Amino acid sequence: MNQFFQNVWKGLNSSPKYLESKYFYDEAGDKIFEEIMECPEYYLTNCEREIFQKQTAALTDKFLSQLKEFDVVELGAGSAAKTSYLLKHMVSQGIDFTYYPIDISGNVISNLTKNLPAKIPGLILHGLNGDYFDMLDELKLMSDRNKVVLFLGSSIGNINLEDTEDFFRLLRSHLLPGDMVLIGFDLKKDPQIILAAYNDKEGITKRFNLNLLKRINKDLDADFDITAFEHKPVYDAETGACKSYLVSSKNQSVRIGEVGRIQFNKGESIYMEISQKYTVAQTDTFAINSGFKPVHHFFDSKNWFLDTLWQAV
Ligand code: AVI
Repeated sequence: MNQFFQNVWKGLNSSPKYLESKYFYDEAGDKIFEEIMECPEYYLTNCEREIFQKQTAALTDKFLSQLKEFDVVELGAGSAAKTSYLLKHMVSQGIDFTYYPIDISGNVISNLTKNLPAKIPGLILHGLNGDYFDMLDELKLMSDRNKVVLFLGSSIGNINLEDTEDFFRLLRSHLLPGDMVLIGFDLKKDPQIILAAYNDKEGITKRFNLNLLKRINKDLDADFDITAFEHKPVYDAETGACKSYLVSSKNQSVRIGEVGRIQFNKGESIYMEISQKYTVAQTDTFAINSGFKPVHHFFDSKNWFLDTLWQAV
């Protein structure tokens, strides 16, 4: 039986119920996420874009201060919209590097391969379609330059806090001493600003969450009534955990494929996603505990978002 079905079945039979947020990103989900990034409440993209627009020279200088030669790798490159500012600057400075975007979506890699070198003449790009860590290993065979690995957008926030250090240790184990990583972390701030980012007025984030139920209907032959679930984000200022839930608005029974049914009580929730928020000190501790040293903090002008630069020791 396929992995998607197994994970959905397990999550919906757990108590409390949950679904895995990595399944948000089917074709429709990708499009809705693009809309989220454009919506006024979702400040994360604007903050990080500002860092990449205004601090490209400083970013490049910091890379060059530690490494004579390096390639740029991006985990989960997407449209590379923010990275483009950096790449453009580096090409204009005559820096000799290859850009290796890694993405699990073949579509993303073929679009980048087609479009980015046309937008940035002189850019050498080699796309890698697959799992981040498999591709990092493959890369070691392709180039012996040090790497600067970008992991942007606070994608790390979609991993539980308890698992975050393990992720960075794993990342470190696929790198060599001297390699650098630039990681986007969304910082703790006014809870209302954070909640609004996950509860936009237009209801785009609600659609994003409900799209996973639609995907289950489509791909696993289920019969979720998506009008019978409410989107509910919750932010805990103490722990920095922003969690999204879909709450059943009535007692209902949902069929999943041939195998069976899931019962929902009125008010029962499905835990959909965590978007963790951090303190700067917490991010430095991650670095130190996972085999990196913090090199520099790049903040946006509101100090809402941090792109932090680490070096593997
Ligand atoms: C991809 N990730 C960093 C987004 C976030 O902020 O957690 C996904 C998202 N979910 C709802 N809005 C955006």
